[in-house]
Amino acid sequence: MTPQRRQRRSRAGAAVLVFGFISGYCAGTTAAAMRRARSVRRTVRELDGRRIVHSASDAILSIDEHAFILFANPAAAHMFATSVSAMQGGSLSRFIQSTGREARSPLDYFPAGAGRAGRRATDYAVTGIRANGQLFPIEGSISRVEQDGQEICTVILRDVSERHLVQQKLARSHDQLRQLSSALQTIREEERTHIARELHDDLGQLLASLRMDLTLLQRSNGLPEPGRHLIEGMESNLVTAIASLRRIATNLRPRALDEGGLYFALQGLRDEFVERHNIACILMADENELRLDDSASTAIFRIVQEALTNIARHADATSVVLNLDRIDGELLVTIRDDGRGIRAEDMEKAASLGLVGMRERVWAMDGEISISADEPTGTRIDIVLPLAERTI
Ligand SMILES: Nc1ncnc2c1ncn2[C@@H]1O[C@H](COP(=O)(O)OP(=O)(O)OP(=O)(O)O)[C@@H](O)[C@H]1O
Ligand SMILES: [Mg+2]
Repeated sequence: MTPQRRQRRSRAGAAVLVFGFISGYCAGTTAAAMRRARSVRRTVRELDGRRIVHSASDAILSIDEHAFILFANPAAAHMFATSVSAMQGGSLSRFIQSTGREARSPLDYFPAGAGRAGRRATDYAVTGIRANGQLFPIEGSISRVEQDGQEICTVILRDVSERHLVQQKLARSHDQLRQLSSALQTIREEERTHIARELHDDLGQLLASLRMDLTLLQRSNGLPEPGRHLIEGMESNLVTAIASLRRIATNLRPRALDEGGLYFALQGLRDEFVERHNIACILMADENELRLDDSASTAIFRIVQEALTNIARHADATSVVLNLDRIDGELLVTIRDDGRGIRAEDMEKAASLGLVGMRERVWAMDGEISISADEPTGTRIDIVLPLAERTI
């Protein structure tokens, strides 16, 4: 080997050595750097996680498979009116009521399919027990993770006492409003009945006797021709006044409702509707099935009256079918028209009270009502009313 070749070879060998050293060094430092970065990320995550869990406003618990509390955050301690250390290591049964049977695992406190709070599929409604024994409503969710071969449950809980109180207050005020509305309906009906009776018995009698006097006057001899004309005009005005008075009184409260019963009152309503609006209307009902007490008769009459008024005002219909059937102690009322059909947004109109009043009357009788567009066209109202003590 020439000295030049030897020199070239030793130079190449050195280069390989340096390269190997550098690449080995680089590889070593890269792995360490990656390990370090991973651990930093984990630490930051854990610190962040711990900070989040510690500052969370919801109570967070970690529970082992035997329902013992491994970890509780300060919000949990605050919620159960105790300390974190008093909770950790304790049994979940000290803080949450199990559902009847002896609870062994965390899921026994949150049984599938039972007590769902409803807002989310994973929410459960459970009852919490504060350190002083006070019970309170909780909404919670539970999730399971496998850690080192052990099953750990994370439970997130929220005290919903205030929401429950607000809901109860809302339900109470809703009830009171409903009672008020029902009382107002009754008062209104009584006043209508009273005014209709006064109009009929008082003013009606007066007009009838005036008419009789006029007839007597007409028969008397020696009346001058202009006077006779005047009396004829007065009599015709009187007849019109008597007819108007009857119409007004009937609109206020049909006498048929008090004297004949619901069936005849509905017949009168149907006849007047057909005559006034020129829309065909069939009434399918049995007189014997409609012998109901006053409040039920009045409510059904007013519901049908509002439905017919709506059909005349909004439906653009050519025919209506009223069906009243009594089946197994329930009255099924169906009102159908073949008009343009009610739309969903029609039922939300804030200023419209007709449908609201209809619903209120049905609910006041513990009944059910559905109002919808019909097939192929038109509107359909279906009402089911329990009639237990309403028959006369
Ligand atoms: N039979 C029907 N066909 C088509 N639309 C209807 C029918 N009945 C009701 N509607 C629609 O529903 C809306 C609400 O009816 P609702 O009786 O509550 O109020 P309204 O008749 O407008 O006013 P009011 O308070 O005087 O009764 C109506 O404005 C109308 O648009
Ligand atoms: Mg209306």
